[in-house]
Amino acid sequence: SITPVKVAVTGAAGNIGYSLLFRIASGALLGPDTPVELRLLEITPALKAVEGVVMELEDSAFPTLAGVEIGDDPNVIFDGANVALLVGARPRTKGMERGDLLEANGAIFTGQGKALNDHAADDIRITVTGNPANTNALIARSNAPDIPAERFSALTRLDHNRALAQLARKAGVHVTELKKLTIWGNHSATQYPDIFHAEVAGKNTADFTGDTDWLENDFIPTVQKRGAAIIEARGASSAASAAAATIDHTRDWLRGSADGDWLSMAVVSDGSYGVPEGLISSFPVTTKDGNWEIVQGLDINDFSRARIDASTAELAEERDAVQALNLLG
Ligand code: NAI
Repeated sequence: SITPVKVAVTGAAGNIGYSLLFRIASGALLGPDTPVELRLLEITPALKAVEGVVMELEDSAFPTLAGVEIGDDPNVIFDGANVALLVGARPRTKGMERGDLLEANGAIFTGQGKALNDHAADDIRITVTGNPANTNALIARSNAPDIPAERFSALTRLDHNRALAQLARKAGVHVTELKKLTIWGNHSATQYPDIFHAEVAGKNTADFTGDTDWLENDFIPTVQKRGAAIIEARGASSAASAAAATIDHTRDWLRGSADGDWLSMAVVSDGSYGVPEGLISSFPVTTKDGNWEIVQGLDINDFSRARIDASTAELAEERDAVQALNLLG
């Protein structure tokens, strides 16, 4: 029998967790032939709710689910983890300032970074979905000095998938006919969805990129504000699509991106494309066997340059704010 892959998920009792756990257990992350052990972390008051989710996981009788551990101690739950999906975070509540939010999440991600450092398996891969995702990933990374920096990533795949959906709709094609779209920068309203290198059904996107009015006033704001539009319509934030994107991101990282295409992932910058070194910023990347590489040599026009710079400036500000709070180990 094959040793199960240990997948740790935080925020297991939350909305994203309720969709994510069942997809992992059913084989969507690691494939139909790989048994998976789920290791679920929650805060103490939410453990009872997690017990209910575990009952439902059992009742789903998934052939690929080898076991489930739950708990409130990251040192225990991250023990031996091969993959960690850090979804749980402190949401902004009424009256909370941005600094309070960074501080509350800072406490979570410093502790989880240290616990991963001390207890995760040597092949650990970490995806941060909980917001502010890029900066939370930066905090965890800087508190885990023994884990290579390239093992930390933050989720911009939902933004990437949203951009695919909008471009497919405009072009009248299926999303599978689109390639080489990029999300740059922060997972926030400043993110920049870039279609200047995209291919639509094998052709370039000159028809669409030439339509600056559509780009500036429709496509980009629609992608940037899609999260708010879903809250407005559904009365709750996007959860199933965020879970799907968390799976897509981590699955493609482990199993590789398609030939002739690339993905968007927020990873540690090596200074490529003028993004300050050390920031966790979204780039076009190719992946293979659990490793990623930033796609090099793309021409960046002035339209794109200004937007990439604005989003990475926001990331630098967030970094400076958490540095001032002494959250960077
Ligand atoms: P939720 O509020 O339903 O669930 C979050 C869960 O995390 C709660 O059950 C909470 O108890 C738990 N949690 C809080 N602190 C924790 C800790 N220290 N350890 C373990 N668990 C902890 O929120 P939801 O809808 O599931 O979203 C989760 C996060 O994902 C939020 O920060 C949200 O903003 C973010 N998000 C990110 C997206 C992205 O594209 N990067 C897209 C959608 C949501």
